[in-house]
Amino acid sequence: MAYIKFDDSKVSKFVQANELPEMQALVTAADQELRNGTGAGADFRGWLTLPTDYDHEEFARIQKAAEKIQQDSDVLVVIGIGGSYLGAKMAVDFLNGSFYNSKPKSERRGVQVVFTGNSLSASYLKELQDFVGDRDFSINVISKSGTTTEPSIAFRIFKEKLIKKYGQEEASRRIYATTDAKNGALRQEVEANGYESFIIPDGVGGRFSVLTPVGLLPIAATGADLNELMHGAADAAAAYQDADLSKNDAYRYAALRNILYRKGYVTELIENYEPNLRMFAEWWKQLMGESEGKDQKGIYPSSANFTTDLHSLGQYIQEGLRNLFETVVKVTKPPYNVDIPMEKDNLDGLNYLKGQTLNEVNDKAYEGVVLAHNDGGVPVLTVEIPDESEYSLGYLIYFFEVAVGISGYLNGINPFNQPGVEAYKQNMFALLGKPGYEELAAKLKKEID
Ligand code: PA5
Repeated sequence: MAYIKFDDSKVSKFVQANELPEMQALVTAADQELRNGTGAGADFRGWLTLPTDYDHEEFARIQKAAEKIQQDSDVLVVIGIGGSYLGAKMAVDFLNGSFYNSKPKSERRGVQVVFTGNSLSASYLKELQDFVGDRDFSINVISKSGTTTEPSIAFRIFKEKLIKKYGQEEASRRIYATTDAKNGALRQEVEANGYESFIIPDGVGGRFSVLTPVGLLPIAATGADLNELMHGAADAAAAYQDADLSKNDAYRYAALRNILYRKGYVTELIENYEPNLRMFAEWWKQLMGESEGKDQKGIYPSSANFTTDLHSLGQYIQEGLRNLFETVVKVTKPPYNVDIPMEKDNLDGLNYLKGQTLNEVNDKAYEGVVLAHNDGGVPVLTVEIPDESEYSLGYLIYFFEVAVGISGYLNGINPFNQPGVEAYKQNMFALLGKPGYEELAAKLKKEID
């Protein structure tokens, strides 16, 4: 039986029985492009074999670094943005729950892990400095290019704090840099100051990098089991190899979203019923949006957190513009369950729930929502994982990564580049007066004036 249960029964009203089989030839062609490296962006398919083909020496070094951080620090400050942030944050939240950082040390498997360098907000940065306070901390700065403005500024600020607290030498022992093997300002700083460093492999784009040191060190710092994470991803890599749509649910998902897209369902909402998966949605949005939003086409990736957002977005989803479809990531057995207490007076009228747990109520909400939205004209797909373990997360990550690879080729674009991300970075450098950007600065000034 499949480890991830993929339920596409709630698209049958919108997709004719013949449509999926008719996609098979296109899917087979997309599969060949992906597997044989004949498609656009082939140099960036390193993630495809990453779950088994990774640097084992570096993997062990990551685990050792995490142990050292756990011994000498209360907090790990993780600095990065986009692909150098979202995977780590999503995994830390998924595996440790909403209140991980607030738990007493004795109830945590690892150190507190906080994230910065993912915005330019001075207030957030100041609040985070205060949160770290005088406690022992280490830094994991993550940047492939080593020049991205947001993490570079945050790194300067936290590095200064680290040096003030420990002096240059000890501060350098508490900085872990995850960056390119050879290039970029961060690599130069690593070489100059002797920081311990980990490598972002060349063939793995930022949004596919969660199973590289980019995600692995922050995840390990929380005490999570990296071997299980990689094991889940490796098993998914083995499970999703067959181009046959009747045997490969990740490909089936890719094909169905392509069919829906061509019928005008141009927005996909990734949904969850567990707050631990909120950041999963943010990671997924980058994976999908940066891979597919090209050449004036692509499904717009959005998200909703249920049941919370049923009380805000629910009306739109039920009755608004009919260009939406939903993909629910459902957890069969969340880590905890809670009984609903009975009250003698039953003034709130809740005693009818006698014998039902909160997870059962949540499941009923899911069932009710799927039926209501389906009746309202929204196709719904469900991707169900058994639990919130490392193994399941690894499996799930790979499911969506391989799906977006196929999906991109089905849509005739290069799913592995992100030329659009550079435009704002270049403009910002020019507007801030970075040397080398004088010509662009003059052009932008004219446009602004
Ligand atoms: O996927 C991408 O390319 C971006 O989201 C980058 O990951 C992000 O801009 C951060 O870049 P860098 O790792 O070079 O600092």
